[in-house]
Amino acid sequence: MLVLGTGGVSVFALQFAKAAGARVIVTSSSDEKLARLKELGADELINYRKTAQWGETVREMTDSAGADHVIEVGGAATLDQSMTAARVGGHIAVIGSLGNPTGLVTVTQLLRKHLRLTGLLVGSRRHQLDMVRALNATGIRPVIDRHFPLEAMADAFRYQASNRHVGKIALDI
Ligand SMILES: NC(=O)c1ccc[n+]([C@@H]2O[C@H](COP(=O)([O-])OP(=O)(O)OC[C@H]3O[C@@H](n4cnc5c(N)ncnc54)[C@H](OP(=O)(O)O)[C@@H]3O)[C@@H](O)[C@H]2O)c1
Repeated sequence: MLVLGTGGVSVFALQFAKAAGARVIVTSSSDEKLARLKELGADELINYRKTAQWGETVREMTDSAGADHVIEVGGAATLDQSMTAARVGGHIAVIGSLGNPTGLVTVTQLLRKHLRLTGLLVGSRRHQLDMVRALNATGIRPVIDRHFPLEAMADAFRYQASNRHVGKIALDI
């Protein structure tokens, strides 16, 4: 599995993937954050600032096979590299659009590799219950970087925008 970045969605994806026995490759803009994800079980690390063609690097790390699943949070800014990183018949879960919302997508990659792209905007109640069951079964606990009192919600958003966090930012209610 390939996981993009070290935010709340991606770190949770890493935790679930490791609990399911997957080999997980993580990208980040920061070597320090990558070191933290190594501690959380990431198998391979790529700094996407230093390695612009990180899709090719994922292929090299997987003996040219590519990733079975990609957790895609970058959107159009990263989709082309994610498609390069995915294996033939691979799956890309399109969950976020953190980068530029428009960009070039090489449609021939999609065709040639028989890729499946699944858009998702908040799962169903069934998904939530299944996730809670998985949390209870595995003992996974969310990685909370910092928490703020509810009244300081604006500070929480400012902290998120500063991009210093790894994992989740929580509000105390
Ligand atoms: N579809 C849904 O149901 C759903 C649910 C929740 C969230 N989302 C969306 O999913 C995305 C991630 O949410 P989040 O809560 O995990 O955000 P977050 O905690 O703010 O994490 C964002 C992280 O993504 C990485 N990142 C930012 N720009 C990137 C880029 N161009 N390429 C690769 N990585 C990049 C950065 O990691 P590094 O600092 O390590 O580089 C950043 O820390 C957002 O777009 C959010 O709106 C969707």
